[in-house]
Amino acid sequence: MSDLPNTMMAWTKSRDEQDGFELVEHPIPSPSAGEVLIKTASTSICGTDLHIWLWDDWSRKEVPLGTITGHETCGEVVALGDGVDTHKVGDQVAIECHLACWDCPRCDEGNAHICENGSIFGVHTNGAFAPYFTIPATNARHTPEGLDSGHGSIQDPLGNAIHTLTGGPVKDSTVAIHGLGPIGLFAVNAAKAMGAKKVIAIDWDNNYRMEIAEKLGADLVLGKGHDVVKEILAATEGRGVDNTCEFSGSPAALANSIHSTRMGGYLNVLSVYGKSNPEVPMNDLVFRYLHLKGINGRKMWSTWDTMYELLASGDIDVESIVTHRLGINDFQKGMELTRSGLCGKVVLDF
Ligand SMILES: NC(=O)c1ccc[n+]([C@@H]2O[C@H](COP(=O)([O-])OP(=O)(O)OC[C@H]3O[C@@H](n4cnc5c(N)ncnc54)[C@H](O)[C@@H]3O)[C@@H](O)[C@H]2O)c1
Ligand SMILES: [Zn+2]
Ligand SMILES: [Zn+2]
Repeated sequence: MSDLPNTMMAWTKSRDEQDGFELVEHPIPSPSAGEVLIKTASTSICGTDLHIWLWDDWSRKEVPLGTITGHETCGEVVALGDGVDTHKVGDQVAIECHLACWDCPRCDEGNAHICENGSIFGVHTNGAFAPYFTIPATNARHTPEGLDSGHGSIQDPLGNAIHTLTGGPVKDSTVAIHGLGPIGLFAVNAAKAMGAKKVIAIDWDNNYRMEIAEKLGADLVLGKGHDVVKEILAATEGRGVDNTCEFSGSPAALANSIHSTRMGGYLNVLSVYGKSNPEVPMNDLVFRYLHLKGINGRKMWSTWDTMYELLASGDIDVESIVTHRLGINDFQKGMELTRSGLCGKVVLDF
């Protein structure tokens, strides 16, 4: 570690108010046993980062002031903690932000993403809006040879999309994606790449994102001008789709989802509904014999293995979804862009 600087400037949530971020000098962290030190290449901005910027009730409860945030990231291993033999200096890696204990019933059964003692890198611990960070070696996933760092950093939302999508059938199936934020767009992209027969993409009024969905090959794109349920039924011989993914956070979209999934079909919900606490048409759900599944994070590690293959083969079009690449000093501009919704994924490069 001798050729590393002693300190770094990092975007830090330092004040108890909206925005409240400043560039603060921190020591370069030192990797503990089992950890690696990463030199950051790119960190993308997540909806969660915007919540922390806006300082909503959830963030006030979860994020200690003084935390360096940012969790969607990739970079290069520059130092190893004691006992790390899975990585070497120079490895290119992307980060799984769910930190698991690997020793509770959920971890034991293969659900480390909902570890009973889990925490989130860059939310509960210092993260990657910083030139260097430490992380357990298990959470540093090797990336395909030669992968662009901007494409490496977006594996957290791409993984959310794939985890949600694979809650139901994809290949040769009809799929509806409600909500075309970055995660919904990644799901449109992944559904096409994974061989879906028909992909229907639905937003409300974000024409910018609806155009990206079209470019990604969505077979039908719907918005507020459409009777969404009627159009989906018409496009599926009156049956509804095999697999619906809900990424909008809108109660109306959740109801539409239930009414436009085929009998016995799959409805996978990644959305968080904020304070809206949607009324769910339960009888329709029951009589339609739907499989309803809440989705959290990414499977550790099957989702990552699927992503690795998709990124290595070049079958997905990350470039069309990463609409903006800015320098890390443009952190505030990136937050404003994310807030405006006039973007796909915003990546900050170091
Ligand atoms: N469970 C998890 O692990 C997890 C992880 C990350 C994000 N999330 C949640 O996933 C969701 C998607 O995240 P994102 O960052 O892509 O979202 P986003 O907020 O950027 O995008 C939501 C999109 O939904 C659209 N929309 C609004 N009303 C709609 C309607 N009635 N029908 C269809 N579309 C509508 C909006 O125009 C917007 O484009 C959010 O709710 C987020 O909180 C959950
Ligand atoms: Zn994220
Ligand atoms: Zn655990």
